[in-house]
Amino acid sequence: MVISTGISAMSFFTPHRYISLDTLAQHHGIDPAKFSRGIGQEKIAMPGHDEDVVTLAAEAAKPIIDQHGADGIDTILFATETGIDQSKSAGIYVQRLLGLPSNLRNVELKQACYSATAALQMACAHVARKPDRKVLVIASDIARYDLDSSGEATQGASAVAMLVTADPTLLEIGTVSGLFTEDIMDFWRPNHRRTPLVDGKYSALRYLGALVESWRDYQANGGLPYDGFAQFCYHLPFSRMGEKAHLRLAKEAKAEADMQAALPGMIYNRQVGNSYTASMYLAILSTLENSDSDLAGKFLGLFSYGSGATGEFFDAKVVEGYQDHLFAPRHRKILEDRTAVSYDEYVALWQARNGEDGTDTPMPDEAKGRYRLASIDDNKRIYVDRTA
Ligand code: COA
Repeated sequence: MVISTGISAMSFFTPHRYISLDTLAQHHGIDPAKFSRGIGQEKIAMPGHDEDVVTLAAEAAKPIIDQHGADGIDTILFATETGIDQSKSAGIYVQRLLGLPSNLRNVELKQACYSATAALQMACAHVARKPDRKVLVIASDIARYDLDSSGEATQGASAVAMLVTADPTLLEIGTVSGLFTEDIMDFWRPNHRRTPLVDGKYSALRYLGALVESWRDYQANGGLPYDGFAQFCYHLPFSRMGEKAHLRLAKEAKAEADMQAALPGMIYNRQVGNSYTASMYLAILSTLENSDSDLAGKFLGLFSYGSGATGEFFDAKVVEGYQDHLFAPRHRKILEDRTAVSYDEYVALWQARNGEDGTDTPMPDEAKGRYRLASIDDNKRIYVDRTA
């Protein structure tokens, strides 16, 4: 018997400040339409000195724990490209901040923007074997490119937390996947670098190649036909990439591309920017929370891509009554309550070093959420819960 497994709760968080891409365009003296249309982005989320992938992750996961409790969770899988330690999993700090019990396993996964999908698949396999258990999967990233580089407009930050269970209440994850991996250098970040090295045009090209190859593998493995999907969610380094992906996939499937089947998934990402591992999961939330039609019983086509490069095409069936399990009003409030920063404030935030060189530093109190990185003491990151 195949046990249905998937996602029963999904929650996201993004910092309370952003720079508008119009402000960036004005500073660089270029047409704002290059960003709003050519790249398809409006805002870049900017974390403060006392925010990082741990605080973003804890903020994202807290509503899920508040609603579902910790009962049955025996694993935390933390996916990130912007890890804060070469050894210790960022998820262990989150486990403590959320007050989760000690009898669970906790590990961090890496493969550029892709690793949350590996985490989700592993979580589904685990709960299929142990249906009374649950897994907390968290994707959390801060996408930073060099100032004045072509990648600058595609920065961003967010975390998405997911509760993976048997008999899920939001999304049933399909058992068929299309997979593709090739050894290329399109985007990478050697250990000594804070920002990635990227060949943006080549990366976009290989992204589309991986999409086609993953789709072919998905079809070869007995996946759904193209017209079996109500909506598609793509990894979105910038939303225009999703548009290009949608056109390319339709061409491969010899179908007519309907952009309305991909645009709901781009709404949140345009407001937040790239958030690497969290990006496709933010697109799923954006689809579920912004689609005009009732998606119950319908299928989502999902394409996850991580440079270097791994691609995976898979599917999810939207569960009847899914609307009752979303945090949509909370998510809209998070986005609405943000404030814009000037170009100079953006540069100051961009340059903020939160402990990367290990120097003892108290962090300025900037985060508006419950959790913050209070200081670096003796090379240790000290995270606090303001309410404790
Ligand atoms: N109005 C409308 N569109 C405009 C415009 C204007 N005034 N000016 C330029 N554009 C369009 C260009 O025609 C181009 O569209 P196209 O892609 O259809 O050709 C688009 O805007 C981008 O401009 P372009 O000058 O080609 O690119 P760029 O040098 O600014 O770089 C990226 C854009 C996306 C390649 C760059 O931001 C990047 O490398 N980002 C990182 C990507 C990444 O993270 N990849 C790895 C993970 S998948």
